[in-house]
Amino acid sequence: MLKKINCIINGEPKEIEVDVRESLLDMLRNRLHLTGTKQGCGVGECGACAVLIDGNTIDSCIYMAVWADGKNITTIEGISKPDGSLSDIQQNYVDKGAVQCGFCTPGFVISTTALLNKNDDPSRDEIRRGLSGNLCRCTGYQKILDAVETTVEQRRNSKK
Ligand code: FES
Ligand code: FES
Repeated sequence: MLKKINCIINGEPKEIEVDVRESLLDMLRNRLHLTGTKQGCGVGECGACAVLIDGNTIDSCIYMAVWADGKNITTIEGISKPDGSLSDIQQNYVDKGAVQCGFCTPGFVISTTALLNKNDDPSRDEIRRGLSGNLCRCTGYQKILDAVETTVEQRRNSKK
């Protein structure tokens, strides 16, 4: 059965017809071609499919597309600056070597964005906890933590 939903995706209002059994992840990737959001485990364990819904990190593989009706959704495609350049978080992931195969990276960047929106001065342990829903098989995590800490430092210094 198909159902029409209305939501905001990366700042743009959208009306989309979805299957009532379809996940938000499938809607984003297959109907809207927003393929930056990745499918890893498909069961809510790895965070590769993370998106922001009304500012909170949600695993889109276990969130039904119909639940997105009326919601404000940001995918990794909506994280870069308006001119298309990388956000400070994305740039620090690159600069600190926190990206290897890159499959987990969109989800990590989404979770980091949500974390720093809620807490602009997290400790290393708070960063660990904030990113605990995201798995990476390549980086060993230290460089990811370094990238987030560097972003926090840069934002703190820019306020002085
Ligand atoms: S693909 Fe959604 S949590 Fe792993
Ligand atoms: S960079 Fe490969 S899974 Fe994280």
